[in-house]
Amino acid sequence: MSGLKKSFHINARDFIRAGEASINVQNILKSMNFDPKLIRRVAMGGYEGEMNAVMHGGDGVPSIEIDEDKLILEISDDGQGIDDIEMAMQAGFSTAEDEHREMGFGAGMGLPNMEKNADEITVESEKGQGTRVRMVFYREQGG
Ligand SMILES: Nc1ncnc2c1ncn2[C@@H]1O[C@H](COP(=O)(O)OP(=O)(O)OP(=O)(O)O)[C@@H](O)[C@H]1O
Ligand SMILES: [Mg+2]
Repeated sequence: MSGLKKSFHINARDFIRAGEASINVQNILKSMNFDPKLIRRVAMGGYEGEMNAVMHGGDGVPSIEIDEDKLILEISDDGQGIDDIEMAMQAGFSTAEDEHREMGFGAGMGLPNMEKNADEITVESEKGQGTRVRMVFYREQGG
């Protein structure tokens, strides 16, 4: 079961369908009998990343890659990019707008939670070009 990769699409500002890609990822991992704890961590990372693309970023492509020893979850979007990645990674930092806060977002906890959940995380961003978040989850930790 190594080397399988599946990609999805998310649309900027589409709050109706937001979250679907992470549910798809979750279902794929469930059908492959991954450990529920590992699935929860991956789904959580996927959801936060997906919401960030929808809310702050642009059109995006989440993908899951299943390797022999690890799962690689990547969310890239073609949005405005992150001004200061170090600051964005800090708990509580958020540029969410009022309309997002009314929907319950904007605690500034998405990226810190992704960092806590994943075994490895890389955030790359270019002003005006987009953002790419890559999370790695080791399979053996999930059993
Ligand atoms: N894909 C992205 N494109 C542009 N900016 C982003 C992106 N992801 C995160 N950011 C920036 O980093 C900040 C912190 O993100 P984080 O997910 O931690 O918090 P949040 O989305 O503001 O709130 P929460 O996730 O708790 O609802 C965002 O407010 C935004 O400024
Ligand atoms: Mg967020």
